[in-house]
Formats: sequence, structure tokens, C-alpha cells
Amino acid sequence: MRASIRLDTDHHAGEIDRRLFSGFLEHLGRAVYEGVYDPGSPLSDADGFRTDVLDALRRLQMPYVRYPGGNFVSNYDWRDGIGPREKRPARPDFAWKSIEPNTFGVDEFVRWCRKLGAEPMLAVNLGTLGASEAAGLVEYCNLAPGTYWADRRRENGSAEPYGVNLWCLGNEMDGPWQAGHVPAGEYAMRAQQAARLMKGLGPSIELVLCGSSNRRMPTYLEWDRVCLEYCWDDVEYISAHSYSRNLDDDTPSFLAEGIRIDRVLDDYAGLLAYVRGVKKSGKRVHVSFDEWNVWYKDRHGDGRWARAPHLLEEVYNLEDALVCAQYLNSFLRHADTVKVACLAQIVNVIAPVLTRPDGVLIQSNYYPSLLYAEHARGLALVPVVDCPVYAAGGSGEAPTLDVAASHDPEAGRACVFIVNRSPADEAEVSVSFADRRAARVSGVDVLTGDDPKAANSWERPDVVAPAAGSARVDDQGGVRVRVPSLGLAVVRMELARR
Ligand code: AHR
Repeated sequence: MRASIRLDTDHHAGEIDRRLFSGFLEHLGRAVYEGVYDPGSPLSDADGFRTDVLDALRRLQMPYVRYPGGNFVSNYDWRDGIGPREKRPARPDFAWKSIEPNTFGVDEFVRWCRKLGAEPMLAVNLGTLGASEAAGLVEYCNLAPGTYWADRRRENGSAEPYGVNLWCLGNEMDGPWQAGHVPAGEYAMRAQQAARLMKGLGPSIELVLCGSSNRRMPTYLEWDRVCLEYCWDDVEYISAHSYSRNLDDDTPSFLAEGIRIDRVLDDYAGLLAYVRGVKKSGKRVHVSFDEWNVWYKDRHGDGRWARAPHLLEEVYNLEDALVCAQYLNSFLRHADTVKVACLAQIVNVIAPVLTRPDGVLIQSNYYPSLLYAEHARGLALVPVVDCPVYAAGGSGEAPTLDVAASHDPEAGRACVFIVNRSPADEAEVSVSFADRRAARVSGVDVLTGDDPKAANSWERPDVVAPAAGSARVDDQGGVRVRVPSLGLAVVRMELARR
């Protein structure tokens, strides 16, 4: 199969925000305990943080990590997780029916983030708590000593404020499963009250309003419209969440997921433009896609009141990784709309990294995040793709290729990210620039395999991993690359003026 991708460095969707490569850590299953924090382990440092987990995650260059939930946050009191550990209360966690020992809280999280090289993105509880407790957490994290909560932080080891600048106003408050779920109008009032108190303490912080939990919600977009119209002047972002599922085991259809992800972002772009128009506002609000991943195989979320139960330990395969690459492609294509995105989650729970007492396993969905964080730099170009369609099962017909591209004008480099969704046909792709020629191909990584269900395991940890591919500069100054079926190719090149 032949295909072409045409690019023009002047035609772009805006700057790629590095925060698109962020992650999400929730108190859920073995994510925090045994994942991030395991004080008894010989693999942990003096703070009890697993160093092998830190090393694996550091390579993903996550600028932000969202914490502490997720559904967990809506019945969580951050005050339980500070101060001397022996005095911290164990509590029942409503969301995952587990016991939360509270031996890891906000101070440990910020300390862990510093070791990771990431900034904390904190969610406040707007389910069972309200504006006052949310503002208390801002005071605890961000004020200089001299007030009640800032002094508690100093006593707990940090005179220096944490400077947390990105905050979520609750989590999935549209969902009936959420502790403290209320109709949109009521949530909007809670969110605005919290926003005003929080920003009163730190006007420069940025706030994320809860959008719809997913596109299947009966209140999808209407919830978002009501909340945005009420809180427009108080927030910088609205959240979007999405977990992709291959419930019918229909791989060709599942591989067309990028189309659905584009639709979600198109929906938000339209809604945000609409509310901005209604408000006659000069302000822009953007999307924080702060939970995204594949998740459908392990939905078992009942911890039976255990500590660190094994929950949602999803095993990721090749087709899942190709869907993850399409999320990242879609974020790049919508760089003007989406500014923050968090892979949900990061360790043990629907995660790219799994732990055992003796080490970590890297899953297939680790690699798209690794490759995009490394190579998507500068501006997100708008690709014109000419390719055949394929029979995408329950999704009808879909374009065979899903493509995004970046251009770093300072470095004179470009990168093209190509997913070949075809289960059978290799694609012979020509990449060309209207206003540049490729001087050199500087590298190609390919993630592929024969079996869409192939997955890494403790016994065979490298079944799905990127390998070096090849590409060449052609006579017209374009680049030719072969992208295998069921494959992701990440093609880097140096550009020169025509
Ligand atoms: O990431 C797992 C859960 O998915 C989160 O707690 C919740 O926000 C979402 O529904």
C-alpha cells in the first residue's frame, strides 16, 4: 500500500505543550503502596521510594503528575496524610473499598515528584469536602511560613513553599459513582467557591474544572456547557477523560480509535468556542485531558477492605500501544485545544510499569509515551495524508494511517509519527515538505509485531519494544519510509531550506 504525507512548516496547530506528556498517580490498588512507596524494599531509597520505578518513569520525562485521584480524592481528607506517620489515621477508602493507611501524603508526593523531576498537579476533594479545605491545601502547599497551615508544612519538614501551580477542582463530578456527585449547576457553584478562595491565596495558580467523565455519559457536553458558562472567568482548563476498550475483540475497529479521540477534542474545541462567544470573552480556556489510556480487561475495583490490593492490573499488548500512540497523535493535531494530558496511570494500576519485589516490568504502552516525549518538540504541524481506507470492523471504513508531525524551528528538525492501522498491509509512505527539503534522516524507531495481542511478561519482557527502523531521503528532498502493518514509526529528520 502506498501513501503520502504532505507538510508545510508554516501550517501548524500551535506550540506543543510539554505538559501533554504528564502522568497520573492515584491512591488505588498497588499504585502508591508497593508501586511508588515501599519502605521495606531493598530497592527503595531512604525515603522509601522505589528507585527502579523512579528510574523507569524518569525516562518518560513527565512534566507533571496528577495526584491523589481519581475517584479516591472525592472522599479524601489531605489532612490525614500529613504529620508524624504514627499519628496518621488509617481510613476506609470509599472509591476502591480499600484501607488507606495514609503513610504517604502530600509531603511525600511532592518529595517524590522532586526526585522524578516532575511538578505536582493536585486535585482537591469537592465531593465530601469543600472550598475551605481546598483553600487550606493551597495554604499548606504554597504560602510562606506565618499562617496556620504553612507553619504545619514547615514543622513537617519544608519551610520552603512547594509552589504547586496546577490544581483540579475535584474529579469526575458528573459521575453517579463519585462520592458527593451532584448536578452540574451545583458542582459549578462548589467549583467557583473553591476557585475563588484558592486563587485568593495564589492568583497565579491554574485551575481545571471537571468536564464529562467520558463521551458515553448522558450529560456529555451539556454538563460541560453548564459548568463552563458558570465558571468561565475562574478557570483555565476543563478536563476530558477517556479510556479505550476493545470489548468485542474487534481489532480492526479498535485500531480506528484515533477517530473517536479526535471527535472528543473537536467536541471540546466547538464547545469552548461557543461558550467564549456567549460570554463575549477575550479569554481562552483549554482542555486538560487528565486521564487517558486503554482500560477494559481488568475492571475489578473492589479491594475488599485490604491494604494495597491488586486492582486494575491491566496487561497491555501491541494493539493497546498503537491506540495509545493515536491518543498522542490526536493531542498533537489538537495542540491549540489541549495543553495538559495525563497518562492514567503510571505504576501497577492501568500502568506502563508493573512492580514485583525484585524489579519492574515495562509494558507495551510505555513506549509511545517514551518516543513522543523524546521526539515531539516545537510546533505541531498539520499533516495532509493521502492513504487508502481499510475495513475497520464495527467502525466501518477508516483511513489506514493515523499521523502527527512536529517541527522544531530552532533545531531545524522535524519528526513524523505514523501509525499503520492495517492488520495486514505494510505502508510505503512518502513524506514531503512544501517549503523544506529533508537533508538527513536522523533516526527511525518502529514499534510493531505480528500479533496484536502480543504482550510483555516477566518471563519475556521484550516482546513488544521499539526497534531501529530505516528511512531514506529521496531525489525530491522527501523521505521514504516503510511502516509495517500493526506498526508505529517515529521518523526524525533534519531539514534544509529549498
Ligand atoms: O483511573 C481510574 C479511575 O478512572 C479514576 O479514579 C477515575 O477518575 C476514572 O473513572
